[in-house]
Amino acid sequence: MIKVNENYQKLQASYLFSDIAKRISAFQEAYPDREIIKLGIGDVTRSLPRACIDAFHRAVDEMAQDISFRGYGPEQGYSFLREKIAEHDFKARGADISADEIFISDGAKCDTGNIQEIFASDIRVAIPDPVYPVYVDTNVMAGRTGDFDNGRYKNLVYLESTKENGFVPALPREPADLIYLCFPNNPTGATITKEKLQDWVDFARENKSLILFDAAYEAFMRDDTLPKSIYEVKGACEVAIEFRSFSKTAGFTGTRCAYTVVPKTCMAYDTKGEKHPLHSLWNRRHTTKFNGVSYPVQRAAEAIYSKEGKAQVRELSDYYLKNAALIRQEMTALGFECVGGENSPYIWVDGKTDSWKFFDMLLEKAGVVCTPGAGFGKCGQGYIRISAFNSFENVQKAMSKIKQAISL
Ligand code: MLT
Repeated sequence: MIKVNENYQKLQASYLFSDIAKRISAFQEAYPDREIIKLGIGDVTRSLPRACIDAFHRAVDEMAQDISFRGYGPEQGYSFLREKIAEHDFKARGADISADEIFISDGAKCDTGNIQEIFASDIRVAIPDPVYPVYVDTNVMAGRTGDFDNGRYKNLVYLESTKENGFVPALPREPADLIYLCFPNNPTGATITKEKLQDWVDFARENKSLILFDAAYEAFMRDDTLPKSIYEVKGACEVAIEFRSFSKTAGFTGTRCAYTVVPKTCMAYDTKGEKHPLHSLWNRRHTTKFNGVSYPVQRAAEAIYSKEGKAQVRELSDYYLKNAALIRQEMTALGFECVGGENSPYIWVDGKTDSWKFFDMLLEKAGVVCTPGAGFGKCGQGYIRISAFNSFENVQKAMSKIKQAISL
């Protein structure tokens, strides 16, 4: 008899963003003439930078001739891309990461979801609340949690991010073997200082824990005193894996390219206390289950490190940050407390009411889609997340519709 993975029965009915997509479709069906402006899921709307498109075209042309055609590439990614990443994203900021510690993939969502496979099933997992739901759901699927009860899974350590702590969680008071952190944060848009991040790294070193650091939104950071990478912090190479993505940085959500850094000095322990390099484990997993990102996509990604590519990518994030500034300014003027939007494309708004009610109100009265904070965890209740990924004109229109809806 084929048996189901019963851990799946502990999951909430559907993935947050699929749930929202269904609600939008239902609304569109009911009111086909109503215009909808989407500031919900963080999906980019602007075209790929010119440098990426040109590199993409050149690589496709190479694939059109036997002499330059490429079949399977290295599972870990082509060295032309891994070397550029090591040089520009890490060495240039004083972080000692080498090309062979970088694994190219088709998305940070997949990597943050898949990485937990290389750890034992009985570890204690610490997860921020609110949080990008992938971290939680994949650990539920793997059986590391108990049942869902009163808005939380049993056996998870929740790291609360609230107004009181400036949306940067305090160190856990209980044991935590695997710790997820994300800065600039999704969903709150909050950032962390080097000093605070150092506390986390020190905690991980003292407790033989590991930090999974999601830096998918680093391209939006404008405050240069803040760490873009966890490896800018002393000792992090021994206790942290970092995830990055070209999705939001360079508009690759539909093109798919990301990377994960697993330093060779990062270890996990077996039941006898023997050390095992995580780099070898992830390499084993990656080469077994993944055949690499396509050659043209990797060439397109490489182009963001050229002089023109760098300028174009900066222009792209500046564009969304201008949207973010407008959203934050307008929501604040309407009397809502906001965080984020300054070093992040997300604005976390205290809606002062049930998150889903606020979501429904904005959809019905303003035709604007946001993401209900409660979908990101218990501490997200009462908040909504507004994304800056849309055209400036649509953001302006959305803000004036929200203004009208609120004053009705
Ligand atoms: C989000 O809206 O949180 C992200 O777009 C989701 C993702 O990157 O998978």
